[in-house]
Amino acid sequence: MEPRHLEFVQRCASCGRDGHGRPTIVGHPDVHVSLSHTRGCVAAVAARSPCGIDVETIHRGPPPRGVLTEREAAWVRDDPDPARAFTMLWVRKEALVKAGIGTLAEVGSLDVLDPGSAGVPATMETWADPPYVGAWVVLDQAPT
Ligand SMILES: CC(C)(COP(=O)(O)OP(=O)(O)OC[C@H]1O[C@@H](n2cnc3c(N)ncnc32)[C@H](O)[C@@H]1OP(=O)(O)O)[C@@H](O)C(=O)NCCC(=O)NCCS
Ligand SMILES: [Zn+2]
Repeated sequence: MEPRHLEFVQRCASCGRDGHGRPTIVGHPDVHVSLSHTRGCVAAVAARSPCGIDVETIHRGPPPRGVLTEREAAWVRDDPDPARAFTMLWVRKEALVKAGIGTLAEVGSLDVLDPGSAGVPATMETWADPPYVGAWVVLDQAPT
């Protein structure tokens, strides 16, 4: 198949402006895409159903408040590396938001430790069925 140039556009669902927000491919409204980038790493997914991907380096600072359920917060506290544990949950939450499942304001009530619980697809992480969410990479150090 001939390589083809694909044009991406972004429109923000919050403010309605172009240039930021969820990306789409011009002329291919049936294809869903999700992109992520962090220092030294990019990730992308395309599917015929909503999809979300996120890649982050480990957040070493204090975690933001209000973004974890009580169970998740306890799971992070009990981990020998809480910053890494937090980031593992955070990337899942961002992947869900990017797939259109909840908003950033709502992620505090999504229990990503429990696929199939309210708002969290049972197929998260398996890629078996849509919505395709749960791709994440946590990098201990940004690649050089
Ligand atoms: C979606 C979001 C959580 C991801 O941010 P991040 O983890 O820091 O960065 P990532 O590299 O993983 O993802 C960024 C990419 O996600 C995509 N993206 C941005 N907003 C998106 C959305 N609402 N839904 C799905 N994908 C989105 C874009 O492709 C973006 O790429 P860009 O930075 O080159 O434009 C962040 O952009 C955000 O907080 N958005 C909501 C803020 C908002 O609503 N602002 C309203 C402004 S009026
Ligand atoms: Zn906006």
